[in-house]
Amino acid sequence: MTTALTDLSDIEIRRYGYDCAVADSIAEVCKLCFADPWSREAVESTLRAEQNYVVAADGGKMGFAAASLAFDTADILDIAVHPEARRRGIGRAMLSHLLKLLRENGAKSVFLEVRVSNEGAIALYSSAGFKPCGIRKNYYTSPREDAALYVLEFTEV
Ligand SMILES: CC(C)(COP(=O)(O)OP(=O)(O)OC[C@H]1O[C@@H](n2cnc3c(N)ncnc32)[C@H](O)[C@@H]1OP(=O)(O)O)[C@@H](O)C(=O)NCCC(=O)NCCS
Repeated sequence: MTTALTDLSDIEIRRYGYDCAVADSIAEVCKLCFADPWSREAVESTLRAEQNYVVAADGGKMGFAAASLAFDTADILDIAVHPEARRRGIGRAMLSHLLKLLRENGAKSVFLEVRVSNEGAIALYSSAGFKPCGIRKNYYTSPREDAALYVLEFTEV
């Protein structure tokens, strides 16, 4: 992937359903971003599931953000930006697009878990209006770590 990005407006950020190339790209980004990444099969089933919303940047090559929605409650499943494309606003733009879709489709609350040490992601979520609402002890493996729980109530924003 090229690092010679010009402007955020040159990057296509939109919702995707299942598409083979998109699933390949998202699986590749997962491998680069997580110690315990989603498999290609997990990415495919995430894209295929009707209750899920998957937003991706340039067909997943630059990153993705995924959530599931049940009635009025949504959960952020994951968000990742290709390591060479970070700190250019792509994470924020994908999250904002995802939250807009969730709200338009009936979400009143959006929950997420994040490693307590993941300061970058926590800063991103906080800037989007998420508030801390609990800790899940030893939630993560590889390495073992607590999860911080966050919630965004759309009535408050
Ligand atoms: C978290 C992540 C998605 C952010 O993507 P990004 O495109 O780099 O984020 P943005 O450029 O949109 O940044 C938006 C804001 O988030 C915060 N932020 C993002 N990365 C940060 C970092 N490394 N350190 C501190 N703050 C950070 C900043 O407030 C930033 O605003 P600013 O650039 O105006 O200061 C990206 O770092 C990533 O893929 N990390 C690995 C995967 C991961 O941890 N996912 C979260 C799982 S819960």
